[in-house]
Amino acid sequence: MTIRGFIFDLDGVLTDTAEYHYRGWKRLTEEEGIPFTREDNEHLRGIPRRESLMLILKGRTYPEGKIQEMMERKNNYYLEYIREISPKDLLPGARELLEEIRAAGLKSALGSASKNAPDVIRRLGITNLLNAVSDGNSVERQKPAPDLFLHAAKQLGLDPAECVVAEDAAAGIEAALTGGFRTLGLGPRERVGQAELVFPSLHGVHLDMILSAFSQ
Ligand code: BG6
Ligand code: MG
Repeated sequence: MTIRGFIFDLDGVLTDTAEYHYRGWKRLTEEEGIPFTREDNEHLRGIPRRESLMLILKGRTYPEGKIQEMMERKNNYYLEYIREISPKDLLPGARELLEEIRAAGLKSALGSASKNAPDVIRRLGITNLLNAVSDGNSVERQKPAPDLFLHAAKQLGLDPAECVVAEDAAAGIEAALTGGFRTLGLGPRERVGQAELVFPSLHGVHLDMILSAFSQ
């Protein structure tokens, strides 16, 4: 099928908020005396807020009220860090690719598990380059369920097989494959090797390269 649209994950694809998520969780876990490393953080790529906290707690149990408070505290730290985000925080190649897609008459959507995604894309200055936004508030079941990407494809009026999903997380690639999308993995093969096409990042990646790879 011809490619007519793209669905971009946000964190780790268009901008590097993984570092801010790390700092938010690090500050919270230090306050709570819970061990948490950068390596642990790697496993949280694409994972929603609550599930991330559950993974960090590694079976430690807390009352629901305390869980809610910890998620809110981490998010407040995160919001404090992302206040500094501006268009210069777009990862290399991101704006160019979004502009090429638009110029070619194809469509772009955001497919991010983050509830803060609309705020982040506004700060990055790319809201007007996206035809649709699906975020952490759009669906119940998050990645690796395909629901978020299906929600985005529906907003674009496209079939999953007509859309390329660009993802940096294993959970995101799995979600896209389950939904019947074409997959562009960004990052090391150990992480995104299940994708049909893999690049280290969007740096130097152009629309014609992607379209020709998927037309073979
Ligand atoms: C994803 C990130 O995009 O969003 C995860 O990769 C994060 O690390 C998730 O936990 C949820 O984000 P938020 O902003 O709703 O806490
Ligand atoms: Mg990501």
